[in-house]
Amino acid sequence: MMDIKKAMETLGVNELNQGVSTGIEWFDTKGAITSSVSPIDGKEIGRVKNGTLDDYEMVIKKAQEAFKEWRKVPAPIRGELVRQIGLQLRKYKNELGALVTYEMGKIYQEGLGEVQEMIDICDFAVGQSRLMNGVSLQSERPEHRLFEQYQPLGVVGIVTSYNFPVAVWAWNSALAIAAGDVVIWKPSSKTPLTAVATQKIIADVLRENNVPEGVFNLIVAKSSVMGDNFLADKRVNLLSVTGSTAVGKRVGGIVGKRLGKTILELGGNNAVIMTKNANIPMAVTSTVFGTVGTAGQRCTSTRRIIIHEDIYDEVRDKMVAAYKKIEHKVGNALDENFLVGPLIDKWSVELFLNAVEKVAEEGGKVLFGGYKLEGEGFESGNYVMPCIAEAKNEFHIVQEETFAPIVYLIKYSGDVQNAIDIQNDVPQGLSSCIFTDNVREAELFTSVAGSDCGIANVNVGTSGAEIGGAFGGEKDTGGGRESGSDSWKVYMRRQTTTVNYGTELPLAQGIKFDL
Ligand code: UN1
Repeated sequence: MMDIKKAMETLGVNELNQGVSTGIEWFDTKGAITSSVSPIDGKEIGRVKNGTLDDYEMVIKKAQEAFKEWRKVPAPIRGELVRQIGLQLRKYKNELGALVTYEMGKIYQEGLGEVQEMIDICDFAVGQSRLMNGVSLQSERPEHRLFEQYQPLGVVGIVTSYNFPVAVWAWNSALAIAAGDVVIWKPSSKTPLTAVATQKIIADVLRENNVPEGVFNLIVAKSSVMGDNFLADKRVNLLSVTGSTAVGKRVGGIVGKRLGKTILELGGNNAVIMTKNANIPMAVTSTVFGTVGTAGQRCTSTRRIIIHEDIYDEVRDKMVAAYKKIEHKVGNALDENFLVGPLIDKWSVELFLNAVEKVAEEGGKVLFGGYKLEGEGFESGNYVMPCIAEAKNEFHIVQEETFAPIVYLIKYSGDVQNAIDIQNDVPQGLSSCIFTDNVREAELFTSVAGSDCGIANVNVGTSGAEIGGAFGGEKDTGGGRESGSDSWKVYMRRQTTTVNYGTELPLAQGIKFDL
């Protein structure tokens, strides 16, 4: 078991920590104190002094100043900084992974995986820093050159959620920094210490590279201090927000009013389809990671399994049998004997229990789990037994995202198109997958008539995406894309440029305008 005290010492996380930094400098703020409590044992891990409105003003001014400098640094040199951050993260992977586990509650393997995602996106951004390219186009006018280029955007606000307390910051900031932007990070108040630790991890790199203060900013603050005002602030050019659909609608409304840019990563209602042609053992094993991994607290967690009636009974029994194997594997996430940790807090436990109750009320049937765990090892009150329930897609509770380990089994009959229609018939559109060995079914699923989600996998579960692809989803998921592929473009300003290298002044569209 990882020694968490030692890990915190190595990371420089203390009993009382400052919560506002502009890079290397930390500020003695006068805001409220946030106590970070571990969902694993219910004990206070440490406290963080929050920023005030004055601190926010100070940071944003510094960020704006820093941007003027930072944008002039060549992109590959900015990428070099990100490369060094990746190296630094490798150095502290075990300790930061352990703190992610202790503060958020995901198992240590997943804590390590989260830090690995940070490292991966750093590597990705290094290469990308040499390839933030526009295109050269054909001008209709003689002796004219027409091209597109990408310029740094400005200040990027990053609002992260507790479930991926540090990786989402990395996805955004690795690309934003390579793109020549500066970042202001507002972490979840439930996981401020991992943010403090991350900011400390990168400090040496900032120092060695003489990065101006104001490029990497962190503000731990309550939403009442840094909430709607942050969103409404015209000085913030892009807001990347991960959270619930309700939060996203609010963000979209406020930022949209000032025509600001957003990346919204909101709720999912992710389904696995298992057709008659599925490799059932493979489908079941994969799906269990999707349903109970991170205790169902990923945006990409599997919420629904849509099963063909011919294999329904077999899949149901195999799912229940698989859950029986994890019955004794729910516990202390720092202890590698366990596969499922606690939920983040008691409110999440309430939401889970409420969903279990609702699905039964609406006519569903609980097949496994669905209760709170009591007794030794569960004193924090945050542990639940993952739940499998039979349900119908149209149930209200099935249409909602419950951010906990409850999965609904839904039967379909006939053609695979029926399963696809059920899968699409929810407000959210993040992740989806089909298990089939039939090429026609697989291709239909990824075709125009297939899944309407941002992620559509074949024989790969809904969660655990690699960073190389663009990450995000449609409909109530918000439409944002971050991480890999060409997501970097959102962090930049596209500029179309026409250069006349002749001595005539031909107008486009052949317009004559002789003075
Ligand atoms: C999230 O839950 O907010 O695809 C992100 C996955 C992870 C990221 C999840 N790579 O499950």
